[in-house]
Parts: sequence; structure tokens; C-alpha cells
Amino acid sequence: MIYDIHIFVCTNERKNSPRKSCGEEHGLLLIEKLKAAFQKYNISGKIRIQKSGCLGICDLGPTLAIYPEGTFYVNVQPEDVDELVYSHFIQKQALQRLLLLKHPKEVV
Ligand code: FES
Repeated sequence: MIYDIHIFVCTNERKNSPRKSCGEEHGLLLIEKLKAAFQKYNISGKIRIQKSGCLGICDLGPTLAIYPEGTFYVNVQPEDVDELVYSHFIQKQALQRLLLLKHPKEVV
């Protein structure tokens, strides 16, 4: 299947490293929460929620990216997911408080 939208959730883990990594925070839990929210709001379509490696903005994580639009959300906590899905996919408005306003290359 070819998807219209990909949601890449960073699940990168850096064990035994002082550097922050999304996967050790709760990257996998975010995927579960996203899938649950999509079911709750009955959002269908060719949308794929998937694990991703490091998205390059670890210090701001946990991070997820929505493509092809190129929207990045940062510091996403499990309790934010429902609101994020509702705002972004139902209301069609980015959730400003978690939105990365600069391109990741400008942040790093
Ligand atoms: S570890 Fe998640 S963005 Fe780098």
C-alpha cells in the first residue's frame, strides 16, 4: 500500500549514553497512543504510524514528524497525543504548543 501520510515517531535508544533519546523516554508508548487516538476519532485513510530512528533533534524530544507536510512535534508526552491528533487531524490545525517552528537543520 502507498500511504498519503506517514507519522514517524522517534524510538531511537542510546543505552549507556548521557545523551537524551526519545525511545528511552516513551517513543513506543507514543505509537500506541497515536493508534488509539486514531481509532477513537475514527480517522481512516492511508496514514501510517511507524517507528523511526533519530530525527536529529534529540534534545527537544520525544519527537515525531508528519510527512509529506514536514511538520515536527517536539517534547511530546503520552498525555499530549489525544489533543495532538484531534487538533492536527480533526481540526486541521497544528498544535502550536508542541510544534517545532524551525526546520530541524536550523535547530541542530
Ligand atoms: S533520539 Fe529522537 S530525535 Fe534523536
